[in-house]
Amino acid sequence: MSSTLSAVVDLDVEGPTISRHLYGHFAEHLGRCIYDGFWVGEDSPIENVEGIRDDIVEALRGLDIPNLRWPGGCFADEYHWADGVGPREQRPRMVNTHWGDVEENNHFGTHEFMRLCELLGAEPYISANVGSGTVRETSDWVEYLTREGDSPMARLRRQNGREEPWQVAFFGIGNEPWGCGGNLTAAQYGATARQHATYARDHGGNRLHRIAAGANEDDYAWTEQLMREVTSGLQDEEPSDIYQAISFHYYTRSGPWMDKGSATDFTVDEYWTTMRAAQRVERIIAGHKAVMDAYDPGQKLGLALDEWGSWWNVEPGTNPGFLFQQNTMRDALVAAVHFEAFHTHADRLRLATIAQTVNVLQAMVLTDEHRMILTPTYHVFAMSTGHHDGVHRTVHPLSEEPVRAVDGETVRTLPVSVSTREGRITVTAANLDPDQAATARLRLRGGELGGGVRSARLLTAEPAAHNTAEAPAEVAPRDFDGARLDGEEMTLELPASSFVAVEL
Ligand code: AHR
Repeated sequence: MSSTLSAVVDLDVEGPTISRHLYGHFAEHLGRCIYDGFWVGEDSPIENVEGIRDDIVEALRGLDIPNLRWPGGCFADEYHWADGVGPREQRPRMVNTHWGDVEENNHFGTHEFMRLCELLGAEPYISANVGSGTVRETSDWVEYLTREGDSPMARLRRQNGREEPWQVAFFGIGNEPWGCGGNLTAAQYGATARQHATYARDHGGNRLHRIAAGANEDDYAWTEQLMREVTSGLQDEEPSDIYQAISFHYYTRSGPWMDKGSATDFTVDEYWTTMRAAQRVERIIAGHKAVMDAYDPGQKLGLALDEWGSWWNVEPGTNPGFLFQQNTMRDALVAAVHFEAFHTHADRLRLATIAQTVNVLQAMVLTDEHRMILTPTYHVFAMSTGHHDGVHRTVHPLSEEPVRAVDGETVRTLPVSVSTREGRITVTAANLDPDQAATARLRLRGGELGGGVRSARLLTAEPAAHNTAEAPAEVAPRDFDGARLDGEEMTLELPASSFVAVEL
């Protein structure tokens, strides 16, 4: 038996642009993401560029990473940036109280992070310390990073070896202030965020895109309070002059917070509960959008999902504070589900960063001493680069979509996305059903299809399949021969548990 989606796509009707920044990443001082991940130090036997691990950079360049968020997460609100500049051996140490209670030597600081962004070709997304830092620290950090000419912070930066200012695109005003970032109320944070955002100045030609720290999941009241704060009582400013976006966080789990489930050992029921949880992100984005629309119908402020992904119990025997988890085909499909939701709401959703890039949560790569593997999630990111900055084209089902009922909710089992960019059409589709093949029939109306299928790739494996150092290509993409184009009719024959990307 096979389930079928029949749909029409109007290639001559433009949807919003899918910002490439929806494919962003996050690197926190947490477990082995930075230390023993990105950062091995200049003296390491592992090949590195100025202390940054070579093979990781090379792998991530394959994803065209648009932005990288740092230094946290919860860590951001106890990080004092001035401790992370200057000669490494003289940098003060601190305790990373959130993650493993380990000592942080501050060897990876501002200069090292900005160098990493240069190597990746990614825009930096820096999160300020609002929870335990001061407005002055925020102001000084921005000056240090972006000011040219003569000023106290620009002089300090030069003294530390960097002549020219950097360009910083994104600047976060704290993180999860309702929890680890200070346990503030929405009203308290709203006022504090306005202050920090005001003193995070635009120096010279640099234009910061300031992102206020938003809600946990579907806490729409938080978003509403921030929208109220930023639209009220302003004398000479527009709300979008204060900050330019509001974020929220949403993680996918199959179990409760205290027992989130195993990354690799799960039942069929847990698989479907995971897909249901992943698909909730679409509803939550729509909910935050609705609140923002009421205060900002012109869509001047953006929405950012700056932490998302699957969160499982840590791998047995690893430090519970390090959040190290394996990554399976199920995780790859979780990512595919998110991307479809992101594209649908790309008018308001302008940035998303998955947690986290290396060795933490839903990572792109996992390392074990000198060895490194690409995860199934990595491959979905790599196969989706055709959507970066593409124009979204809505997929209109012609009859009922294939669905599955999961505990009273409906999970759409064949999400499909279409976008166009510079004369190319990218179609991605996921078959979430682990047991049955599926067919997507798409009538692609109103476009230029003369080039036919230029490339077609398939990622398929049973849901628990994953890559290890011993078997690094257990889940890896291969050429897909199930895509046909006949006039304007496109047919995709998807195996069970699969993700495909086709370029026309
Ligand atoms: O990504 C791990 C943690 O999850 C982050 O530090 C925090 O913001 C969130 O609770």
